Amino acid sequence: THSAPDAAPDTHSAPDAAPELFTWEFATDPYPAYAWLREHSPVHRTTLPSGVEAWLVTRYADARQALADTRLSKNPAHHAGSANAKGKTGIPGERKAELMTHLLNIDPPDHTRLRRLVSKAFTPRRVAEFAPRVQELTDSLIDGFAEKGEADLIHDFAFPLPIYAICDLLGVPREDQDDFRDWAGMMIRHGGGPRGGVARSVKKMRGYLAELIHRKRENPGDDLISGLIRASDHGEHLSENEAAAMAFILLFAGFETTVNLIGNGTYALLRNPSQRERLERSLAAGESELLATGIEELLRYDGPVELATWRYATEPVTLGGQDIAAGDPVLVVLAAADRDPDRFQNADTLDLARSDNQHLGYGHGIHYCLGAPLARLEGQVALATLLRRLPDLRLAAEPADLRWRGGLIMRGLRTLPVEFGPG
Ligand code: HEM
Repeated sequence: THSAPDAAPDTHSAPDAAPELFTWEFATDPYPAYAWLREHSPVHRTTLPSGVEAWLVTRYADARQALADTRLSKNPAHHAGSANAKGKTGIPGERKAELMTHLLNIDPPDHTRLRRLVSKAFTPRRVAEFAPRVQELTDSLIDGFAEKGEADLIHDFAFPLPIYAICDLLGVPREDQDDFRDWAGMMIRHGGGPRGGVARSVKKMRGYLAELIHRKRENPGDDLISGLIRASDHGEHLSENEAAAMAFILLFAGFETTVNLIGNGTYALLRNPSQRERLERSLAAGESELLATGIEELLRYDGPVELATWRYATEPVTLGGQDIAAGDPVLVVLAAADRDPDRFQNADTLDLARSDNQHLGYGHGIHYCLGAPLARLEGQVALATLLRRLPDLRLAAEPADLRWRGGLIMRGLRTLPVEFGPG
């Protein structure tokens, strides 16, 4: 497969007629539809599968502006239809009031206060200290399937890596981490599907977190939850509920996103062999630059977060020439903005060395991804180690047969079957 040409850019041109959104085909490859929207209806009113009406923002310039616009609130109370809108963010636990007060649902000044409390745990230096553990986890997961000659890289690799990493960061003891893995698995497997098992898993996780916070208060460690408790004990105004909500949002924001970075990223490399070879040569030479720019490019090209989380106009707003009424939900389509040819040259081509790459894959403005340094670390270690240890890694399915997980916000594969020489 190494000599095969790179996949043609997925999008040649926008379709002629208004595309149907949220179909199965759209989930497989939404980029042609986004190209049409950027060109013909850049701020587009649509009815979501849930029945809720919202505006989709698809051009890069509008998207960046919207993400930083203080007239767009994160607080769902501003939604004109909030009384009957259900499950809006796709994060199952969000309907549980106790876990509502998290970073992605609040505005300043509460947002500023809570974000300041937790941001110490995510400085590049703190995260770098975590690198040996991420490498160890990565190697032990690969050890688990290296002899078999085949694997599902989502189930066997992309899925467990971030959950163990976040558990370590939060301070969940190793012996409890497999429970976490099961609950989280339930939540992402059924995201957007039947809710029964999800509700049970959310409940279990919430109960566990409450108990863990209790235990850490008695017996603090050098972990994030202990840090949050210390901060609240020193009068920084963090309630126990807020601490639980914080742990929960870290798990949610940091888990499926990283699964998708590893999954979508590996998939893009497997479909673009010349780019992959270039990266392999660079890694073999002991360089790290192409790996670093490459991860950013994979985030731009087919990133984990397709739509930024919900925003609501607090007053009438005009965006990209379109009037938006107070109370209307606004969804910024990061995946569309990051393929905008007005911002990126050859926007539909994967170019791991791309240098002018201010993509919106981590968002923009005050809600910019808090976990970006950790995500970069995990993505870099995971992809570099996979390529090094399984040099003849190849896709074991036709791209058309791969299934993408449903759900509005995230974009990721359900399975990624691969083959490789064992050993
Ligand atoms: C926010 C992307 C990994 C924690 C965000 C946002 C995006 C994003 C787009 C902003 C959403 C919005 O404005 O609506 C990603 C991607 C990741 C990733 C692509 C992986 C490749 C992580 C990790 C963590 C994390 C590993 C932590 C363990 C957060 C938190 C927020 C956030 C707490 C909310 C920040 C705030 O509201 O102030 N992320 N994320 N993320 N992310 Fe990430």
